[in-house]
Amino acid sequence: MQEYRDIEDKKAYLARMREMLDVRMADKTKRRNHSLGVARTAKKLAKTYGVDPFLAEAAGLVHDWDKVLDKPELLARAAQYSIPVAGSPTNAVALLHGPVAAVELPQLFPELPPEVFQAVARHTSAAEDMTDLDMVVFIADAIEPMRKGDYADRLRKSVGKVDLKHLFFDCFAQGLEYVISTRRYMYPTAISIYNRYALELGC
Ligand SMILES: [Fe+2]
Ligand SMILES: [Fe+2]
Repeated sequence: MQEYRDIEDKKAYLARMREMLDVRMADKTKRRNHSLGVARTAKKLAKTYGVDPFLAEAAGLVHDWDKVLDKPELLARAAQYSIPVAGSPTNAVALLHGPVAAVELPQLFPELPPEVFQAVARHTSAAEDMTDLDMVVFIADAIEPMRKGDYADRLRKSVGKVDLKHLFFDCFAQGLEYVISTRRYMYPTAISIYNRYALELGC
């Protein structure tokens, strides 16, 4: 398998990824534009916080690769790949496009290292041991320019002013606030992830 260090022309590689994204999301313009926005935002965040900008941009481009699938297909693939799901898979279906894509993307982009696919897997539900790249992609998904609302503006203003972990925790907590305020199902691991970072960073 070719290693990431052997990708000589990163610009050309990203251009090819964008072409593949165009095909994948040919009839999903909004989702395609969101993916491009996440990629650009992830690249900027990476530069601000000392993360590899190429890996951040690559992960941003493909983070929603499998969001084009319908719910039965996502559930079927998650079962086929034995993806661990806390609680009921049906309730967690909105989160499955991350881990399902992380299984499939290495076949399409074998030159990329595993940390890119881990960041894709974790952009939906996060994890208790987020890497810097995981956090960059998670945050970029929440604050890319197409995201409207006071919360997105507030988080965007924090970029560069607070450290990466605090920014991630703020984004994650904001997501939980939304889940609770709209009375949606909360994925069971969210509480332990919240507590893990609250104990380290909270007041
Ligand atoms: Fe997503
Ligand atoms: Fe997304």
